Amino acid sequence: MEKKGVILSGMRPTGRLQLGNLLGALDNWVKLQEEYHCYFSVVDWHALTTDYENPGDVKGNIKEMVIDWLSAGLDPEKCVIFRQSEVKEHAELHLLLSMLTPLSWLERCPTYKDQIVQLKEKDLATYGFLGYPLLQAADILIYKADVVPVGEDQAPHIELTREVARRFNYFYGQVFPEPGTLLNTVKLLPGVDGRKMSKSYGNTINMSAEPQEIKEKVRMMVTDPQRIRKDDPGNPEVCTVYAFHKIFNLQGTEEIEEVCRKGKIGCVQCKNNLAEKMIEYLRPIYEKRRELEKNPQYIMNILEEGRQKAWDKASQTMAQVREAMRL
Ligand code: TRP
Ligand code: SF4
Repeated sequence: MEKKGVILSGMRPTGRLQLGNLLGALDNWVKLQEEYHCYFSVVDWHALTTDYENPGDVKGNIKEMVIDWLSAGLDPEKCVIFRQSEVKEHAELHLLLSMLTPLSWLERCPTYKDQIVQLKEKDLATYGFLGYPLLQAADILIYKADVVPVGEDQAPHIELTREVARRFNYFYGQVFPEPGTLLNTVKLLPGVDGRKMSKSYGNTINMSAEPQEIKEKVRMMVTDPQRIRKDDPGNPEVCTVYAFHKIFNLQGTEEIEEVCRKGKIGCVQCKNNLAEKMIEYLRPIYEKRRELEKNPQYIMNILEEGRQKAWDKASQTMAQVREAMRL
């Protein structure tokens, strides 16, 4: 099939991926690898911008994340999977772009202002953190990506990437295409306690959760608090279990809503139904993970092949960039 263009996206390796990462991003990537030339990067330098004081087990996190990617269905025959820090040209392009990027573009970036407030336990008044979106622009431009699939929070970074590309092209001649933003279709998943799903609340579910783990998480989910006896009429709209039914049991959702409102199903039963559906959906993922875990060398080989393919493209672009800048 004729491919529609080049895609680049990335994720920071910060431990096991959650259901939200699967539904919000990875499931999209798996489809996109059929239609585009895709580069998917484990952006370990980006992880350092916030965790420089305590990088943790970077190598372990990278391996786990690649296992999650492959378990979800990314296929190294169809896309390039690589580690950002192994293609040093990203750093060179970041440096060169920093020459022409006005400070104000970075300072006014909404993610920059938000994160500094949100992560106030960390000292983010650093050069690297300010430059985060510019490093991201380098990641994207070095592959001349046409399209970047990201969550809505990242849209300002892709906008900045376009502005930087335009400025570069204006000074030195046309080198970079301006990439488009492809927003991930969001399926809103609450945490098991009904609050926003977030690692810091400890209310998340791993995308590679095994059946036993899924059952336990579902058991912990909060339901309609007004419902005391199992024949009380319930209100699915306020129930976490129902929110999950809407995603993992689409066909059964209407029925659940009806029997809940009429008090014809107990929450325990309703949870058991959900757990079954989730286990069915996630089974191929954890089974694949189990296979992959047996062969760490295979993961290393994929990253090595990916590094070569990524480097091929990145080094070609850099040759053009250096020439354009008279280096
Ligand atoms: N900033 C992105 C995030 O936090 C990760 C990222 C780094 C990225 N480089 C990228 C995403 C390039 C898309 C393209 O999700
Ligand atoms: Fe929620 Fe199901 Fe209980 Fe209704 S029956 S409140 S949808 S768990």
